[in-house]
Amino acid sequence: MFESLSALPADPILGLLTQFRADNNSNKVDLGVGVYKDPQGHTPILDCVKIAEQRRTDAEDTKVYIGPTGSANFNQLMTELAFGHDHPALLANRIRTVSTPGGTGALRVAADFIKRCNPNAVLWVSDPTWANHTGLFEAAGITVKTYPYYDYDSKTLKFQQMIDALKQISKDDVVLLHACCHNPSGMDLTNDQWDEVISVTAHQGFTPLIDMAYQGFGVGVNEDAYGVRQMAAAVENMILCSSCSKNFGLYRERIGACSIIGKDSAQTDIAFSVLLYVIRCIYSMPPAHGAAIVETILADDSLKQQWLDELTVMRDRINGNRQMLVDKLIENGVDRDFSFIAKQKGMFSFLGVNPNQVEVLKKDFSIYMVGSSRISIAGISEANVDYLAKSIASVI
Ligand code: LMR
Repeated sequence: MFESLSALPADPILGLLTQFRADNNSNKVDLGVGVYKDPQGHTPILDCVKIAEQRRTDAEDTKVYIGPTGSANFNQLMTELAFGHDHPALLANRIRTVSTPGGTGALRVAADFIKRCNPNAVLWVSDPTWANHTGLFEAAGITVKTYPYYDYDSKTLKFQQMIDALKQISKDDVVLLHACCHNPSGMDLTNDQWDEVISVTAHQGFTPLIDMAYQGFGVGVNEDAYGVRQMAAAVENMILCSSCSKNFGLYRERIGACSIIGKDSAQTDIAFSVLLYVIRCIYSMPPAHGAAIVETILADDSLKQQWLDELTVMRDRINGNRQMLVDKLIENGVDRDFSFIAKQKGMFSFLGVNPNQVEVLKKDFSIYMVGSSRISIAGISEANVDYLAKSIASVI
């Protein structure tokens, strides 16, 4: 049976991990996968996570099945983190949240759920979007199309084109929006732009699916949820997929959440029964460990504050790296304007070099980035920024 298969290329993002690990160059720089790194290039376990994990280990007394929704406490706390504890949709009992295996698991659940809502729904994604969005939704049998988003030349949003495109989308379709820290461009909607997108969404009647993989990495946990909260207050139906991989540093624990909002409590209950069926058919039940860590942190005021402080350190470091790279490029005589990198938000920006230059940076300098020239800003450090800037200067 397997003889019918032909090999597929490695994943454009995860494939870089293997190549980077196999590279013996002591100067190598990893700007590939979006993970936070400290100045030593290490991805640490947050102190609040260590404490919560210990408490969890001490208190845990069973490994029995938890059920397809995962932990009810985690789901409630994640709902409040995303929407705010007094959001009108929450008070009206219109939100149901489940724990999922990472943000990717949440997206796959959302994809199968959408397929059940409307087998012919088209999913509209920003051009560009996270490299895995298209494959993930197509794997669930959903047609994926794009709306204009980022202008590679001017390094700005194609906002009017985006709005014009959204105005053509039918009520039967779904539009995927990035809550904050747009992956891969680092270009976020301003609050005013969110307001306009929300008004078009409500007018057209299509369903918004918001992917929030970086809450807290842009401006702050509440500020980054502006679009999520305003959208949820303005539409009848919405889906939110969130991830605890980056903001809690729980990457390999695979924990995220999927929330659905119905027009009223009764409709949401029906939709929720479908969501549970979908989960049962994919992975049956989510893993529990990561959720237990997150709920321990969010349920304890002092641990939650510690988490917010550690998150601020990560966010500030990434923002500092942005400015540091821009300054170093100038110092190394680069006259091309890279100031956009310092203005963008979150883990990523496009460096703006061509695929050939990306390849040269990898082969000749052991500098790893996605083929689109997306760089993971957290991989920059005081120790490698000079080498990085000199290498970029020499290829452009
Ligand atoms: C990324 O975009 O680098 C991260 O979201 C990791 C991944 O799974 O692709």
